[in-house]
Amino acid sequence: MDDVRWSASFRYGGAFDPPETVAGPAGPPRRLREILSRIPDEVVDRFSGCGSPIPEAIEGCRVLDLGCGTGRDVFLCAALAGPGGFVMGLDREVDLLAVARSHVEATMSRLGHPEPNVAFRQGVIENLGDAGLEDEGFDVVISNRAVNMVPDKLRVLREVHRVLKAGGEFYFADVYADRRLPPEVTRDPEVIREQLGGALYVGDFVRKARQAGFPDPRIVSRQPLNLADADLQNRLGGVTFWAVTFRLFKLADLEDGEEDYGQAARYRGTIPGCAHHFVLDADNRFEAGLARRAGGNTTRILEASRLAGHFEILGDRDRHFGPFRP
Ligand SMILES: C[S@@+](CC[C@H](N)C(=O)[O-])C[C@H]1O[C@@H](n2cnc3c(N)ncnc32)[C@H](O)[C@@H]1O
Repeated sequence: MDDVRWSASFRYGGAFDPPETVAGPAGPPRRLREILSRIPDEVVDRFSGCGSPIPEAIEGCRVLDLGCGTGRDVFLCAALAGPGGFVMGLDREVDLLAVARSHVEATMSRLGHPEPNVAFRQGVIENLGDAGLEDEGFDVVISNRAVNMVPDKLRVLREVHRVLKAGGEFYFADVYADRRLPPEVTRDPEVIREQLGGALYVGDFVRKARQAGFPDPRIVSRQPLNLADADLQNRLGGVTFWAVTFRLFKLADLEDGEEDYGQAARYRGTIPGCAHHFVLDADNRFEAGLARRAGGNTTRILEASRLAGHFEILGDRDRHFGPFRP
């Protein structure tokens, strides 16, 4: 549960206390700690995301980070993708990109990469074509607290769908609300200052994801955010903000919910950094070597994404047994 603990170290300009539900020391997942120590302090210190959407099993992959800021997650992915992979960071702010670019050479040398496998590009995440990004150019798209800053989330999701290869994944973290925000909350100066006014009701976000071509959005982790400012908490009138990490897979034949075909999946323990278990989402944690019942969409994800090869799928889809009940 390292991923969950790390979420206690969110930086929200001081607006949030660490979530009460989180126990144990805050810190990055174990598989990332050593890499982080090789990323320059300025980059790590200026991280302003809200989770750990650093994908597993990306060696040799092409990865895109939307709203990359000063590039911490780009450099983490560059290490995991290896010299045969490539990571592009995209942001609208030239100053942030300049900081990221100024650290490329030193970081590549610390990672032992003979040539840089990163590039930083200026652009807006709601129109990736303007930044020259073509259809199906990436295996994985990530984002850490940037999507909600864009008013038209559906447009962002459609763009992500366009630039992902078939079987690709959008793995991202952002802040969501547990209900639609009342107008007085979105107008609240403190909410605006903390850039929370764009936080969608999580249910509405899931609907938009489906509309954009991601039929079965998966929540990996979620943490309630406790506001440090008690007055603001009162003014919110019962709204709770959550930091949520999602996985959306671009697979045309996913159904809109899990169906039971009597299948199971066994994790081989072969994903680097995940020798003992792999967490696909909050409902699907696979122990290495242990066959576990799985719904039709889950087995499809495991056999048709970059995760294929790390799982053995038991059974086929010939017979349907009704809705999947874990
Ligand atoms: C909260 S910061 C997160 C930065 C980075 N992901 C991190 O974790 O440190 C949000 C980032 O999104 C960028 N951003 C916001 N709206 C954007 C847009 N429409 N297009 C591109 N970048 C955007 C901002 O410039 C900022 O760097």
